Amino acid sequence: MNRSRVAVIISGRGSNLLALLQAAADPAFPAGIDLVISNRPQAAGLMFAKQFNIPAQVIDHTNFPDKASFEATLHDALITAHIEWICLAGFMRILSAPFIEKWRGRILNIHPSLLPAFPGLHVHEQALAAGVKFSGCTVHYVEAGVDTGKIIDQAVVPVLPHDTAESLAARVLEAEHMLYPAALAQIISLANAHQV
Ligand code: GAR
Repeated sequence: MNRSRVAVIISGRGSNLLALLQAAADPAFPAGIDLVISNRPQAAGLMFAKQFNIPAQVIDHTNFPDKASFEATLHDALITAHIEWICLAGFMRILSAPFIEKWRGRILNIHPSLLPAFPGLHVHEQALAAGVKFSGCTVHYVEAGVDTGKIIDQAVVPVLPHDTAESLAARVLEAEHMLYPAALAQIISLANAHQV
């Protein structure tokens, strides 16, 4: 089987990257993680790329005069590695419309809420302030507009009476680690089936 080539782009801890690497370690998974990119040199998640022997690149946005030149370098790195799909996994920059257009329908993101509720930052604080009884996570296509793209899949977790933002985040994160690999496998299998 020809596995689709996926790049994971991170900014920090990389626990979703690890979940994707672990899933892709199964030869039956329809994608391989072939490149890891971080926009932050200190991102802890870079060590997972090393651990799994996956090429990793730091493309530090602070070294570029503007977003267009940062994204041009990002695009070149992805093309050079023959990447077909991009998974944003805790990548904390907003991609511009021209970049998203180039990768239309090929960029996925995971967000730690049940979108369209609680987009943006401080998601768990928003959920607790709203008093919702359930929260969760969403894998969606990236479109221009923050956390607005078409939803691929979601997982629900309960909000418990004494939850703090930290305890809720930890519960949601566990669900993220199951949802992201499953959603990626689902859309790639679907895309491959349509190509046949
Ligand atoms: C995850 O909870 C992810 O959903 C969130 O950042 C965390 C990254 O953790 N992403 C966003 O908030 C994007 N808007 P990780 O680096 O351990 O995967």
